[in-house]
Amino acid sequence: MSLIDLHCHILPGVDDGAKDLPMALEMAKAAVEQGISNILLTPHHMDGDYTNHKDDVLKKTEVFQQEIVNAGIPLKVFPGQEVHLTGELLQAIDDDDILFMDEGGKYLLLELPHSGVPEYTEEMLFELMARGITPVIAHPERNHGFQKEPDKIFDFIEMGCLTQLTSSSYLGVFGKKVETLTDKLIRANLGFVFSSDAHNFEGRRFLMNDAFKKLKKHEGTRKAELFNSNARSIINGEEVPVPEITRVSDVKNRRRFWVF
Ligand SMILES: [Fe+2]
Repeated sequence: MSLIDLHCHILPGVDDGAKDLPMALEMAKAAVEQGISNILLTPHHMDGDYTNHKDDVLKKTEVFQQEIVNAGIPLKVFPGQEVHLTGELLQAIDDDDILFMDEGGKYLLLELPHSGVPEYTEEMLFELMARGITPVIAHPERNHGFQKEPDKIFDFIEMGCLTQLTSSSYLGVFGKKVETLTDKLIRANLGFVFSSDAHNFEGRRFLMNDAFKKLKKHEGTRKAELFNSNARSIINGEEVPVPEITRVSDVKNRRRFWVF
């Protein structure tokens, strides 16, 4: 199964990901080693630290793809953005400064502030959906607000949003709490795709193959195939099937066997 990564910071020199071209190419190789064949490049946009205008990302993606080809790395990259939730988002869409996850402008990779879920989030999600846009909430399992109130994720999916879970969250890279929530989101059918959110070679790596291996072991091959086909549907702007969902609070803890 060749994997599709919809969230990744390897476009060189544009944010806190790959700092230059040599590093970006090394990361591209690492991605291929993890079984990835297609990557949506999603530099941070409008998060208070980084601005990556649509036109700039389009041009830089083209240059980067050529460098990848020149280096003989079998990887296809697409232009995207990790769009931060801000009051200026609708204006930026009107100004045609937003890149979606698909060419047709259906799916938007939306990052919420790490510290919590702002009051106006729900209203903004409605506004986006009224425009025919499906917000794909980036790594909800890492957000402090969702960690306190995971049932909010259920509510947002019921409204019509999707979620992107980060592969390394599922593997415990961000600690047990994040790992457990990721596991519960998957079992509640509140997770739709794995993406790497890779930034570097240290803490935030690709680990897609490893996450898919674990997913297969715990939830079966079908679920793993579904996650990857959902990613393909998103990048192609096609419908993603939403199965019956459950609230995280209704998901039982995994049974533990204590040995004394
Ligand atoms: Fe990211």
